[in-house]
Amino acid sequence: MLASLIVGALAGSSLAKRFTSPVRPMDLVRRISSGCSTSGPASCHNTTQETDLCCFEAPGGLLLQTQFWDTNPSTGPANSWTIHGLWPDNCDGTFMEDCDPSRDYTNIAGLLEAQGASDTLSFMQEFWVDINGQNEQFWEHEWSTHGTCYSTLEPSCLPSGSPTGAEAVAFFNTVVKLFQTLPTYDWLANAGITPSTSKTFTLSTLTSALKAASGVTPALECSGSTLDAIEWYFNLKGSVIDGDFVMIDTPESGSCPSSGIKYPPKSGSTTTITPTATTTSGGSSPTGGSGSLPSTGTITASTTGGLLTAGTWSTQTLATYHFSGTVSSFTMTTSKGNCGVSSGTLKCGSGVSLSTFSAVSSGSDLLLGFQGSTAFSSDSTPSGTDQETVFTGSSHSKTYTLAIVAS
Ligand SMILES: *[C@@H]1O[C@H](CO)[C@@H](O)[C@H](O)[C@H]1NC(C)=O
Repeated sequence: MLASLIVGALAGSSLAKRFTSPVRPMDLVRRISSGCSTSGPASCHNTTQETDLCCFEAPGGLLLQTQFWDTNPSTGPANSWTIHGLWPDNCDGTFMEDCDPSRDYTNIAGLLEAQGASDTLSFMQEFWVDINGQNEQFWEHEWSTHGTCYSTLEPSCLPSGSPTGAEAVAFFNTVVKLFQTLPTYDWLANAGITPSTSKTFTLSTLTSALKAASGVTPALECSGSTLDAIEWYFNLKGSVIDGDFVMIDTPESGSCPSSGIKYPPKSGSTTTITPTATTTSGGSSPTGGSGSLPSTGTITASTTGGLLTAGTWSTQTLATYHFSGTVSSFTMTTSKGNCGVSSGTLKCGSGVSLSTFSAVSSGSDLLLGFQGSTAFSSDSTPSGTDQETVFTGSSHSKTYTLAIVAS
């Protein structure tokens, strides 16, 4: 059986909570909730027939988050892979496409802005880019070809009164959030694998580095012997809108040869992600002074709640963090003491050694990063007075990002 690990917790209740919190200006955006439970079987793992296909993805229950490494020509930041899409394969690997031409929306950018997803749009303008610069057509294609095939995104599954296209907005929000938990470039770089004009790599070197970081084996795609795409596979508990994405090993190998794989650098006019490089256009603008590091602030989690003085994750009143340094390299303290990462665990307290963190702008958020990754995870989502240990990376079941909010 495939190794499985739950990541990408976009749980309905917690996502909804984030956006009703009074703390952050971007919480004012309208996001829909599916009302689906995530405690049932994952897609493709049901043992009896599921009847509520608004809360169980079928038949396309094998989901692929596909990413590009485009170097000819280069697209996107030089130190990040870019989004291709999120595709619903059937459990046996066959697939459907173009499932509902009546919902082939145009002006995806306008739809996202009109429905409170300008932050998602800004992220897409940087990380979901077409090789020929035709971003809008690319997004329309990904929605109409693949997005319209999700059973959990049928308009009849949406809360009543949802505006036309709300399910497409939910799709783009979800793809961006899921992609943010899959930093392929950083995972390779952390294992010493960076783009090179001269080096070649074996398939097992690449896949073991990615498996060590993510817990699963993705499929690597090559054009000839040049690495140019990756597929991360999932099953889904609940709805695409806000379900739990369960990461699984690829069911089939990709097209790369077993050795001599080239991973060339991007070239030309690409930009490197820097803390201030986030594209903002079309009326979206950063809301929280993101881009510069505040001296004090709170740290909120993308799903619910945020960090307390000990560096734990909770829905209780958030602690004040003190930041010292620059966005690309800083240390943090709380009233409990220094904050540091030891054995993959974040802690703040007396006797803790300071670790160096970095932050990157994502939409209007300033995301906390550690060793090149903005993914953090815990064993479960806190509620009430629970405090969950925060682990760096996405190897625990609830994955989220952490945003620094100036205070
Ligand atoms: C799982 O549910 C789907 C959707 O109802 C159904 O088509 C499929 O046959 C079910 N699988 C099993 C093993 O019952």
